[in-house]
Amino acid sequence: MSKLIVSGMTNLEGSVSVGGSKNSTLPILAATLLANGCSTIYDVPYLLDIKNMTDILHCLGAEITNAGGSGLSICCKKPGWDVSDCEYTTKLRASFLVAGPLLARCKRFKISMPGGCRIGLRPVDLHLKGFAALGAKITVGHGFIEAKCRNLTGTVIYLDFPSVGATENLMMTASLANGLTIIENAAIEPEIVDLAGFINSMGGKIVGAGTDTIKITGVKELTGQVHTVIPDRIEAGTYAAAAAVTKGKIQIDNVIPEHLTPITAKLREAGVEVTEGDSFITVDAENQPKAADIKTLPYPGFPTDMQAPYTAMMSVAEGTSIVTETIFENRFMHIPELIKMGADIKTEGRTAVVKGTKKLTGSKVNATDLRAGAALVLAALAAEGETEISHAEYIDRGYYNIDKKLSLLGAQVMRID
Ligand code: UD1
Repeated sequence: MSKLIVSGMTNLEGSVSVGGSKNSTLPILAATLLANGCSTIYDVPYLLDIKNMTDILHCLGAEITNAGGSGLSICCKKPGWDVSDCEYTTKLRASFLVAGPLLARCKRFKISMPGGCRIGLRPVDLHLKGFAALGAKITVGHGFIEAKCRNLTGTVIYLDFPSVGATENLMMTASLANGLTIIENAAIEPEIVDLAGFINSMGGKIVGAGTDTIKITGVKELTGQVHTVIPDRIEAGTYAAAAAVTKGKIQIDNVIPEHLTPITAKLREAGVEVTEGDSFITVDAENQPKAADIKTLPYPGFPTDMQAPYTAMMSVAEGTSIVTETIFENRFMHIPELIKMGADIKTEGRTAVVKGTKKLTGSKVNATDLRAGAALVLAALAAEGETEISHAEYIDRGYYNIDKKLSLLGAQVMRID
C-alpha cells in the first residue's frame, strides 16, 4: 500500500503536461489484436491499468517492446482465445475489451468476468447482446464468459444505453465481420473517435464515430499501424480543478481544449477563468470557487470520471451545489472521506448536496477507487494542515506521477511506499 502525504493551502503555479488518455489507450491496445503485423502506439501513459492490459496481451501471446519514450510496439501473429487463466483480467474492467477482437480474430474467447473500480455493478450485458446479434453463442457461468461463432455477420445493434465499452467492443468485432454493422445509440466520447481512427488507419471502414450512429463495413483483414493516442481529458480536468481549489494559476499542456468543454464550461460557471490555446489551457482562480450544480451524463455531458474531483472542489466553494451522478450507482465513496476533512455534504440516492465551506482540515483518509482518490488529493491541497491518503495505488491507476506533477506546481506532496 502506498500513501500520499499532502500539506495543503499552497496556491498552485506553473505548468503541467498531461499524458495520453488512459481510456483511449486501453481499447487501442486491445485493437492491436485485430491486426496482422505489428502496431506502434505512442503517448501510452505509464499507468497500472495500462501495465495490466499489456500483461493481458502477453497472456494472449503478444510480443510487446518499448518503442522509445512513451511508445509501445505490439505484435500478435496469432492470439490465443482463452484468457481465463490470466490473473490480470480480474484487475481491470477494461480487460473485457479484448473479447471483441478475440471473437473477430479467433471466432471465440473465454475470459473471466471483468474486475475494476468498485463504483457499481458494471455488467457487460450490452457487449454480450451485441456479440450475440453478430452471430456469437454466449455462455456465462462459474465466473467466466465464453463465446463462439462460425461467422460474424453485420447487423443493426441498438444499445439501450450509450455504453463506451460496448461501443468500442462492438466496433472492433464488426470491423472483421461480414457486411455492414450499424451501432445505434452509440457512445460519442472522444475515445471512441480515437479508436475508430486507429482501426481505419489499419484498413478498417468505420464512419460516424463521434455520432450516435456508427456504420462499420467489415473487412477481411487489418494490418498493424502507428498511432498516437489523444491526451487524457480527465487528467487535465483534475489539474484544472486542483488549480481552482488552491486559488492557483496554472497552464495545462498537451490537451485538446475542445474535449475539455464539458469541464471548462463548469469551471467558468464556478468563477474560474479558463483560457484556451491550441494545445493548452490556462486556469486562473483568484477567488474561492462559486457553487455550480452538475449532473453526470454521457459525452458531451459532464463526465462521471470528473464527478468526485468536482465534488471536492464544490466542498470548498461559496454556496451550495447539487451533484447528481446518473452513470454509476455507487460513485459517492469519496464523500464520507471528504466529510472527515470537514466537508458539509449530504447524500440522498444519487444526489449529493454540497454546502461549501471556507476551510477543510487535514485528516487520515482512504482512497477507495481511482477518481475518489483524486478527489481526496484535491481536498488535501485545499485543506489546512496535513492529510494522509492511504491506498494511493488506486490513484496511480489513472494519474502518472501525480505527486511529482503537483510538486512541480508548488504543492507539498510526498509519497510513502
Ligand atoms: C468507460 C470508462 C470509465 C467511464 C465510463 C463512463 C474506460 C476504460 N473506462 O467505462 O472511465 O467512467 O466509460 O464514461 O474507457 N452498462 C451496462 N451494461 C453494459 C455496459 C455498461 O449496464 O454492458 C452500464 C454501466 O454499469 C454503467 C453505464 O452503463 O452504469 C456506463 O458504462 P460504460 O459507458 O460501459 O462505461 P465503461 O466502458 O465501463
